[in-house]
Amino acid sequence: MEATITLLPGDGIGPEVVTEAQKVLTAVAAKHNHTFQFREGLMGGIAIDQTGNPLPEETLGMCLDGDAVLLGAVGGPQWSDPTAKVRPEQGLLKLRKSLGVFANIRPVKVFSALADASPLRPERVENVDIVFVRELTGGIYFGQPQGRETVNGRRAGYDTMRYDEEEIRRVLEVAFRLAAQRQGKVTSVDKANVLASSRVWREVAHEVAAEHPEIEFEDVLVDAMAMYLINRPGDFDVVVTGNMFGDILSDEASMITGSLGMLPSAALGGPDSVGLYEPIHGSAPDIAGQGIANPLATILSAAMLLRSSLGLSEAAAEVETAVAQVLANGYRTADLAKEGDTAVSTREMGNRVVASLF
Ligand code: IPM
Ligand code: MG
Repeated sequence: MEATITLLPGDGIGPEVVTEAQKVLTAVAAKHNHTFQFREGLMGGIAIDQTGNPLPEETLGMCLDGDAVLLGAVGGPQWSDPTAKVRPEQGLLKLRKSLGVFANIRPVKVFSALADASPLRPERVENVDIVFVRELTGGIYFGQPQGRETVNGRRAGYDTMRYDEEEIRRVLEVAFRLAAQRQGKVTSVDKANVLASSRVWREVAHEVAAEHPEIEFEDVLVDAMAMYLINRPGDFDVVVTGNMFGDILSDEASMITGSLGMLPSAALGGPDSVGLYEPIHGSAPDIAGQGIANPLATILSAAMLLRSSLGLSEAAAEVETAVAQVLANGYRTADLAKEGDTAVSTREMGNRVVASLF
């Protein structure tokens, strides 16, 4: 097959980890006789520095035009002044919205070789296999009005949390379809005891649940969910929630695995949307440029890209197996290394995964 993949390395460790994922995709293409064409776009803080815009038109056009987008990370301290008019994260939100990728799939699974990296007791993490479905193009991230003002000499800021039933229904449907291919359980997370938007969410969630009687369904309040992720993470299968709750809970859940550097994600829309794939970790400016970042989350995101955007499930599974193999052989980047382990570089980790593919 032929495919055009847009690479958006972005900021911080983004370029380093995307380079390794590209290496893996190139190896997959060579192995299976596919032709992947890569195009690289400017995005994030680096795009602000060079063009004044975190998502230049040219980059957006490239993304809309290709078959899939692989993103590294955006942001960094030099662009995080709270009073700045232009911020890297605005580029990411605009990209998600423009691609229409309303469902963010974030799998949280513990690699057996890394079970001891978790801060939780081994018996708690053994059975953890959760997929978060985070609504990605609505909610408080996008609701209007949003802004700041000074009233009676006092600064104030405000955001709007708003969901309409169609936005809720379509992401719930993604969750139920996914659960049907997995353990058959959906947990919908909201704050319906306080928020009006959550009460609409819950109403619609129950309607969708009624259309899928074969799937076990429950709703859980977000504060309770924060607790359950620590004391019984093995009880969940598919967890669906709004944009901000999903942002927070997926970072919390990543710690069950012990390393934020391991978790991939896929942002998907309707049948004609171009998928967006990114590691869930950030730009890690503190270690950028040192060649020590963990590229596995980005490599695993590339595997999701192969499966969901290119329909290459077998190749995707091969990449995932290669990652598990490299870990089982004891290779660790600095974030995963324990005392006494020799940490491998970003590049060596990428090379090891490529070698494991053949
Ligand atoms: C994420 C990130 C982003 C988000 C930031 C960088 C805008 O935290 O993908 O989880 O909040 O969505
Ligand atoms: Mg986040």
